[in-house]
Amino acid sequence: MNVIGIESSCDETSVAIISNDKLVSNRISSQDFHKHYGGVVPELSSRAHLQILLPMVKDSLNEAGLKTEQLDVVAATAGPGLIGALLVGLSFAKGLAFSLKKIFMPVNHVEGHIFSGFLMEEKPEYPFLSLIVSGGHTMLLLVESDLKIQKLGTTIDDAAGEAFDKISKLLGFGYPGGPMIQNAALNQRTDFAEFPIAQCKNPYDFSFSGLKTSVLRFIQKKYGEPSKIPSGELALIAAAFQHSAVKALSTKVEKALKNYDVKSVSLAGGVAANKLLRDELSNISDRYKKKFIVPSLEFCGDNGAMIAYRGLRLHRHGIKYSFDFNAFPSLNDHTFIE
Ligand code: KG4
Ligand code: ZN
Repeated sequence: MNVIGIESSCDETSVAIISNDKLVSNRISSQDFHKHYGGVVPELSSRAHLQILLPMVKDSLNEAGLKTEQLDVVAATAGPGLIGALLVGLSFAKGLAFSLKKIFMPVNHVEGHIFSGFLMEEKPEYPFLSLIVSGGHTMLLLVESDLKIQKLGTTIDDAAGEAFDKISKLLGFGYPGGPMIQNAALNQRTDFAEFPIAQCKNPYDFSFSGLKTSVLRFIQKKYGEPSKIPSGELALIAAAFQHSAVKALSTKVEKALKNYDVKSVSLAGGVAANKLLRDELSNISDRYKKKFIVPSLEFCGDNGAMIAYRGLRLHRHGIKYSFDFNAFPSLNDHTFIE
């Protein structure tokens, strides 16, 4: 059984192949040029996917030692994401599957992240708590099986990655903000400023806009404007922000651990690359005697491997889609998440 997974929902083009349950190729190409614009430019993203996708598919097949005819399932991200970018990967997948008379499998990007822990040697055990933190999503889920996923909470404003990106921009570090904040904050004290963690009506919901505003207010009050911050204090503000952002996430996971009897805790999405967050959730999981699973860095951000894996699982459950299945920009449109 050979499954190809194509991911093109945002600024990464990725193609992966799972052959007989083994990941044999996972190629990722990041569109670095967006950093010149301070964020992802949708039209430029679509064009870049279009240029690079076919050569990447060929490279991936070569790496796997397979011919196109040997593919059984063609999986691709159908949403959520940038509609133009999604259409490039999804249309390509439909064309490939249709011409080869093979199975076409649209995959929900967030579900790809949720199950990315299964790409690791140590896998989550059902039921597990899944914290998905990326540039577009922040969600806490109770995953009971491949097809039973209950959303416990979500962000009511910004996504966690978005908050990192915005604060990074404010401090003049650039895009993407997560890695820049993490590097600046390395080995810095965290108590230079105290930024509050929002309480929401639903105890498992998240909110980052208040945190962002309090960083901005702190800067305005102390320095007047961001450009007046002494260079030595930029890192201290970054560290205090990162500390609060991570706490805002980890306290919700801990609350859920008190109320739901799960076997594992799984962390995924681009922000899962954050070392402080990984360490914090690992410690909490240890305290509650739960297995903690987080993908290696290659599988934290957007990648084709998680799409191929999810596509394979859906296929094994006998799930089928027709070629008129369309791309969708928002999470609510097609998902197993209730
Ligand atoms: O999952 P992803 O690659 O794309 C989306 O689906 O959004 O996540 C990208 C997000 C960006 O906001 C980026 O700043 C954030 O992940 N990120 C991080 C780190 N590395 C990437 N955030 C915090 N710490 C990091 N080390
Ligand atoms: Zn993602």
